[in-house]
Amino acid sequence: MILIKGGRVLDPATGRDEITDLIIDGEHIARIGFFMPGPEYEKIIHAEGKIVAPGLVDVHVHFRDPGLSDLEDIQSGTAAAVAGGFTTVVCMANTKPEMDNPATLEYILEKAAKMPIHVLQVASVTEGLQGRELVDMDELKELGAVGFSDDGHAIADTSVMLKALQKVKELDCPISVHEEDEVLIENNGINEGQVSQQLGMGGASHTAEDVLVARDCMLALQTGSKLHIQHLSSGNAVEMVRFAKKMGAQVTAEATPHHFTLTESAVLTYGSYAKVNPPLRTFEDKKKIIEGLQDGTIDIIATDHAPHSDARKKKKTLQQASSGMIGLETSLALGITKLVHEGYLPMMKLLEKMTVNPANLYQLPGGRLAEGGPADIVIFDPEEKWTVKEFYSRSHNSPFVGERLTGRVKYTICNGNIVYQDGMQ
Ligand code: DOR
Repeated sequence: MILIKGGRVLDPATGRDEITDLIIDGEHIARIGFFMPGPEYEKIIHAEGKIVAPGLVDVHVHFRDPGLSDLEDIQSGTAAAVAGGFTTVVCMANTKPEMDNPATLEYILEKAAKMPIHVLQVASVTEGLQGRELVDMDELKELGAVGFSDDGHAIADTSVMLKALQKVKELDCPISVHEEDEVLIENNGINEGQVSQQLGMGGASHTAEDVLVARDCMLALQTGSKLHIQHLSSGNAVEMVRFAKKMGAQVTAEATPHHFTLTESAVLTYGSYAKVNPPLRTFEDKKKIIEGLQDGTIDIIATDHAPHSDARKKKKTLQQASSGMIGLETSLALGITKLVHEGYLPMMKLLEKMTVNPANLYQLPGGRLAEGGPADIVIFDPEEKWTVKEFYSRSHNSPFVGERLTGRVKYTICNGNIVYQDGMQ
């Protein structure tokens, strides 16, 4: 048994916020309350001054496994996840080969089962993420896909999207969508606007996002399916989700730490390290993302952890560079530094968007601290300052390198095992 002593236990699922202890027995949380230390505990974690919360859940990561393991694989991705306080991650389907067939899904689920945390996988919605033919969703769900996403690509054909929504309703799982209509994009990853003009190039307009968010919200309203909108970046799209929720659509939405932290001007400072799909946008868009987080329009914070090598990032031109940035190791600290410490969100709300809400999207048992429930826990110091420098991820494409952040993960515990301890790996 492990005793976690004297921490501030925060559980967004129940609203619990108190200084108390927690006993782990095997894979489960046995008790929450006050307990005397004794020989029955194989380990006592002194958590005074720290926050004890449910292990974080990230519904949007790219582990590049199979196919691009020089950028990341399931082991290095998992190492990055635990260092960031995550005990559950959901991997995207843009692998090589794509996650559109049973053999590739079985390959990854077999590897995932050996990981010390819950590494879950979505299958793609369409064959080869081409947006044309639906995959065999029954079979892939049956084999263990937790949901479906063509993330990285939009599903442009409305009839394909409608069919996919009808199918996920039948299967009772969400479809997660990347909303950017390619016909409205000249160069992806850079916002169409002041900065793209300054750089003398076309960009990716927010309208490309707005039109697909509007379409899919209305399709979800019609079908009653669970639609999850990934990485919102446009203020108009936030408004659209707010409207669709009000009308009764089963829509959830996520925002990434980079979209609530940075604006389009980051491209001028960090070059391709700030190139991401959908792009970093204006100050007004960022403000609307934060408002969406505040009023619950945006339910979830997800990283879109997207590892890329220097070779892919440092191309001759910005247009040629790959889009995406890693995020697992900086996500919690960015939330604490930029949302909690700046007064936009209370700690409980931040954690709600990183634990119980993403767990609920996939109907997972984690994301909460309950007696008898899984011992998936993060312990972090909400005041410790640190500088972003090195990563457990195999890639280091982050514009946050050198940034001084507040909030540091001290322990990550999954299935009752200490899978990460600050300074020990
Ligand atoms: O910038 C991005 N990179 N956005 C995505 O949706 C996909 C990701 C990737 O896989 O690199």
